Amino acid sequence: MIDFKELVKEYKTPLYIYDLDYMRAQYTELKDAFKARKSILCYAVKANSNLSVIRHFAKMGSGADCVSIGEVRRAFLAGIPSYKIIFSGVGKTDDEIREAIEKDILYINVESEAELGRIEGIAKELHKKSRISIRVNPNIDPQTHPYISTGLHDNKFGVDLSTAKRMYIKANNSQNLDPVGIHFHIGSQLTELKPIYESAAIVADLVRSLQNIKIELKFFDVGGGLGVKYDNETLIPTYDYAQAILGTLQGLDVTVLCEPGRFLTANAGYFVSKVLYEKQNGEKKFVVIDGAMNDLLRPALYSAYHKIEAITDSKSAPRAVDIVGPVCESGDFFAKDYELPELEHNDLVVVHSAGAYGFGMGSNYNTRGRSAEVALEGGVSRLIRKRETFDDIIALEKEFLD
Ligand code: LLP
Repeated sequence: MIDFKELVKEYKTPLYIYDLDYMRAQYTELKDAFKARKSILCYAVKANSNLSVIRHFAKMGSGADCVSIGEVRRAFLAGIPSYKIIFSGVGKTDDEIREAIEKDILYINVESEAELGRIEGIAKELHKKSRISIRVNPNIDPQTHPYISTGLHDNKFGVDLSTAKRMYIKANNSQNLDPVGIHFHIGSQLTELKPIYESAAIVADLVRSLQNIKIELKFFDVGGGLGVKYDNETLIPTYDYAQAILGTLQGLDVTVLCEPGRFLTANAGYFVSKVLYEKQNGEKKFVVIDGAMNDLLRPALYSAYHKIEAITDSKSAPRAVDIVGPVCESGDFFAKDYELPELEHNDLVVVHSAGAYGFGMGSNYNTRGRSAEVALEGGVSRLIRKRETFDDIIALEKEFLD
């Protein structure tokens, strides 16, 4: 049991709290599920990019899946070795590609023919051979929220099968490219196994057809996407997930790479706020808290559900309330028509499942400083990011005041 009241006494609100022991258990479970083969879990840094969180995964032997050179730098700083870092994303700049090649990371995940050409040119300038993997878009509907679906031709990600094959042949004939992997990622918060299995089977067939023309890939990168429980979702058991993927790989000597983000961190995280006021507009009741959409955007952006727990001495019966923040937007809510008892000033409201895509999607909107972040490990808490101050927020503007 986490003592939220004690933690708030020490670190104030709004506050992110991450249970590192939970993250470790999730990592171990998934890693074990793949134990029939060589595998590397490359933690998807975007899910929670706090350096101490990445360091925690580094210590377990994790690699890192990065989508900007900033994330690559974070991974290095946190102690992930270069040979376990991969770099994905549809819009890498020349500078980002150059730095990734210079840093000699495991491979760059290529998302278009044009990008392959840029990587080849930059590698040539650097007199290097760049290891690459190609992101294949298998055109499979992952049955998730449209904003986090990525494996359909309607989505901007990856290339179709025939384009991928052409790119592999080009890369294989290039002095400056070394095709070592293949990648797909069809979406996030996946709760259906079938689309994952179907995608893996399509991509494994491509690996076989490449093998027939003497292009031997070493890494089979299945992306991330494994769903978690926010509410009452039925989840894909990790063993079934791994078995479904491994089952498509018969006859192939490849290392499986997996890029979990949410699975490792979502349910390790809590976002804690204080109640400021209760108010009523006509029949509608609101609880106004000191956290806001700039801290946790998921409800506003995706109408995402997060379980909410009130920590209070109130004995009143629950009633339906909207839990809202101070930001000047009607979209600034954490939940609507949620059953909570009457709350007092300074009671706590804990938003669950906030460890993935929480802090990282935050902003300074309304000139609100980002929350502090705290890690819990073995029952001990420690600060892993200071609360942002007003001076932090204006630091890059102040000098331009005339
Ligand atoms: N690999 C690639 C190439 C990805 O695009 C993503 C996530 C991952 C791995 C990690 O996926 P995960 O295991 O976390 O599902 N902001 C949204 C989620 C966006 C996911 C983007 N890509 C949310 O709050 O639900």
